[in-house]
Amino acid sequence: MAADGKARKTPFHVGIIMDGNGRWALRRGMPRVFGHQAGMKALEETVDNAHELGIRYLSVYAFSTENWKRMPDEVAGLMGLFRLYLKNKIEKLHRKGARIRFVGKLDAFNVDILDGVRYAEEYTRENKEIDLIVCVNYGGRQEIVDAVNSVLAEGGGPVTVETFKGKMYAPDIPDPDLLIRTGGELRMSNFWLWEGAYSEYYFTDAYWPDFDMAELKRAVESYASRERRYGAA
Ligand code: IPE
Ligand code: IPE
Ligand code: MG
Repeated sequence: MAADGKARKTPFHVGIIMDGNGRWALRRGMPRVFGHQAGMKALEETVDNAHELGIRYLSVYAFSTENWKRMPDEVAGLMGLFRLYLKNKIEKLHRKGARIRFVGKLDAFNVDILDGVRYAEEYTRENKEIDLIVCVNYGGRQEIVDAVNSVLAEGGGPVTVETFKGKMYAPDIPDPDLLIRTGGELRMSNFWLWEGAYSEYYFTDAYWPDFDMAELKRAVESYASRERRYGAA
């Protein structure tokens, strides 16, 4: 925080709940997976746009622990897109100087996906232009439960807020300054529950495939106008 108490103008870490793909597709009379495909394109553009605006960490909610409840063909379509992304998009990210990480309960995915995840993370590890954190099979409640279990597994001494944070999936990533949700719903749906305790929230009706630079700029401008107090007067 700056000395005058004003938020840093550009959020350091922006998190996005990429919602609305299904409705975007249905409006066009297309299957939901078509919307997810368009959503993947929006993600690529948003990484560029975030980098251009000086955002250092971008985290995106791509698949929640609850999304397995969807119809098998949609889940299969999403897994197919995950594979395509790992196969075709990593080199481009690397050339931009982006580091990619995947956060969530990754052991639920097939081994070929896990190999792709490990490769992408290793290949881009040293990049410093922007960090892209893709949350897959991520749930804030699951993350907290996993943290509790890891404390218990180590003998279960009392924890503090600081030591407990060290048990989260990616404790080195700074807490999100700004959390954006597209698609018009006014809820967090289990995203960054612990980390988002003092995040600023921004909601837009735009469906994720329509989220562009103008939309991102509006969210960042809204953030810049806010005063963050963290409980202080
Ligand atoms: C978000 O879009 C993407 C995922 C959850 C994988 P949705 O698929 O939830 O789209 P809507 O909300 O049904 O329109
Ligand atoms: C949140 O969207 C999860 C992701 C964007 C990955 P959902 O569409 O799953 O959330 P609900 O069902 O509207 O709460
Ligand atoms: Mg949705």
